[in-house]
Amino acid sequence: MIKIAKTEGPVIDLIKGRWSARSFAERAVSEQDIHTMLEAATWAASANNEQPWEYYYALKGTEGFARLAESLMPGNKPWAANAAALIVSVARKTFAANGNENKMAFHDAGMANAQLMLQAKAMDVYTHPMGGFDRNMVTEQLQLNDDKQIVCMIAVGYLDHANKLEEPFKTREITERSRKPIAEIAREI
Ligand SMILES: Cc1cc2nc3c(=O)[nH]c(=O)nc-3n(C[C@H](O)[C@H](O)[C@H](O)COP(=O)(O)O)c2cc1C
Repeated sequence: MIKIAKTEGPVIDLIKGRWSARSFAERAVSEQDIHTMLEAATWAASANNEQPWEYYYALKGTEGFARLAESLMPGNKPWAANAAALIVSVARKTFAANGNENKMAFHDAGMANAQLMLQAKAMDVYTHPMGGFDRNMVTEQLQLNDDKQIVCMIAVGYLDHANKLEEPFKTREITERSRKPIAEIAREI
């Protein structure tokens, strides 16, 4: 399949097969499967094992989902509103033990999100992380205090045909993925 990463070396299939999908099927993702994805997230490494991540999720058809979908930017709303679930990733910015700033909080939440997305792919569920939504709206919906900051929202669902998407999303859905070569982003010192 065109979306499977063409890698330089023997990268594992799970990583090669994950990509940010836009065409989501009507099929629901069970709450149990969402929990499994969230549990995978919690097994990420984190500074001091602080686990500075929090997740808020809503299944399609609920009021929570409708409100999250309402916050999406025009480049995301047409397709992400069809996801089976929307998950909001939140980072806690200070350490629970002493209130000091945790400079690693966003990093660690990102690690957890990567694990969530790979666990989903292992279950044949596709994900799409998004920064394009109204953060103020979602912060208010989730009633987040100042210690908590939204990292991203993740659309989750089973894959459907690209044909059902409007342009420009359809073209994006079928365009091959690409990455910078290793030589450009890493060097031996
Ligand atoms: C934090 C973050 C925010 C993103 N925001 C958006 C977004 O708002 N809309 C969108 O279509 N894709 C968004 N993406 C998806 C990226 O465009 C995508 O991951 C990138 O093009 C690589 O493609 P791949 O995930 O299929 O490998 C976001 C990804 C990340 C990690």
